[in-house]
Amino acid sequence: MRTSIALSLLAFSATNTLAFPSRMFDLSFSAEEKRALDAISAKIESDIKEKRVSTPLAPTFVASEQYVSNTGAHAFVPPGPTDLRGPCPGLNAMANHNYIPHNGVATIAQFVQGTYDVFGMGLDLGAFLSIYGAVFDGDLTSWSIGGPPSASLLSSIGLLGTPQGISGSHNKYESDASPTRPDLYQYGNDYKLILDQFNDLYSQPLGPNGYDLTTLTPFRAKRFQQSIANNPYFFNGPFSGVAVQPAAYTFIYRFMSNKSAEYPEGYLNGDVLKSFFAISGSPGHFTWTEGHEQIPNNWYKRAVGDEYTIPFFLLDLNSAAVAYPQFLSVGGNTGTKNSFAGVDITMLTAGVYNTATLAQGNNALCFAFQFAQQAAPDLLKGLFATLTQPLAKINAAFASVFAQLSCPQLQSIDTSQFAQFPGSKGAA
Ligand code: HEM
Ligand SMILES: *[C@@H]1O[C@H](CO)[C@@H](O)[C@H](O)[C@H]1NC(C)=O
Repeated sequence: MRTSIALSLLAFSATNTLAFPSRMFDLSFSAEEKRALDAISAKIESDIKEKRVSTPLAPTFVASEQYVSNTGAHAFVPPGPTDLRGPCPGLNAMANHNYIPHNGVATIAQFVQGTYDVFGMGLDLGAFLSIYGAVFDGDLTSWSIGGPPSASLLSSIGLLGTPQGISGSHNKYESDASPTRPDLYQYGNDYKLILDQFNDLYSQPLGPNGYDLTTLTPFRAKRFQQSIANNPYFFNGPFSGVAVQPAAYTFIYRFMSNKSAEYPEGYLNGDVLKSFFAISGSPGHFTWTEGHEQIPNNWYKRAVGDEYTIPFFLLDLNSAAVAYPQFLSVGGNTGTKNSFAGVDITMLTAGVYNTATLAQGNNALCFAFQFAQQAAPDLLKGLFATLTQPLAKINAAFASVFAQLSCPQLQSIDTSQFAQFPGSKGAA
């Protein structure tokens, strides 16, 4: 009997569990959505059932399970003039290969399925990211991987305006100091790859697994410093900076790397990196073709049973923050270059966290999610006529995360300090 994701997944692992409280799930999701999500959880459950639940670092490579097709129904088809593409190379590639609808607008269930099928994203992470997108950047059931979708693709459920897609989600989802994408207020867009940034990434010294975290984390520190030095409006937000920015880096290695028997955790070489970033040509002569992100030939995703889950992501987030404590420094430039000021975390969180405790245990991610939850009602007021449905849905997503993290209880936030940061508008 399978009545919800929570029930069907509890079986295999505490850390892999979506742990969706079915009570909230029932309240906020349509019957059709529940059916779709149940179908995915059933598929994933049957994939994983017979496996050991590996520790993150000991996956076993099985070629037939990990090969990702890029032919036939999944052959590369570049986006046409009305197809939407945006800042996320993973989602753009999924759309170009028809793992989500080619037009770039997909439902929560389609995103969960696509991120699992192509990259081995954990159901917990996929569901959270997809629901967050649907509520903040979409129409509650679907969202665009680029800019605003045409009206015909939207349902009319009390939207106050056209949802902006993830390209229009600055400070809610989209963040400054991304690997290859520009800072919004410095360049006027947040999704067109900057060749200098890609060049710089490409020429980093390689780690034992190619462009692995030993390469990407120092590169992130460099990009963080560049934003401080060049973007008067740089803002490192509680959610967009502390939680999304690290994902933009760790996803490159964790998802794009090619898995094999020799490298079960993955090896990411320059050619695969270029393919997923829509880059052609040779170093010094690179060309970026907007929207042409491709799954390489003969490419293998994460091992079944070794999905990249929220707890796994938390480990990566924390090790980056140990090496570079500035990553957890919420704050920004105050209107001129090189004027970075950090906010007082104690004041921001009514004493629940401080700079020292933020770096401990689950706290950084707890803080990021809890801040976003507290900020949600205000942000959603501008998007929906009534908040009941959007809040129920986003709170269900947050509850599923908190069930895994056991966080201290954040009761309220005080964002008055953000007034000194001109780039903090709409921050989560
Ligand atoms: C539903 C799931 C996902 C959502 C909602 C999502 C959303 C986003 C958003 C909003 C950004 C912009 C963040 C920023 O400003 O830096 C982004 C960037 C990025 N995403 Fe995704 N993403 C998802 C799945 C994936 C997957 C499966 C991959 C696999 C490779 C991926 C790889 C990346 C990378 C590498 C970047 C940074 C791009 C750059 O600046 O160079 N994402 N994503
Ligand atoms: C991935 O690794 C396998 C095994 O080494 C190799 O045969 C394949 O060509 C690699 N794929 C890519 C895209 O590099």
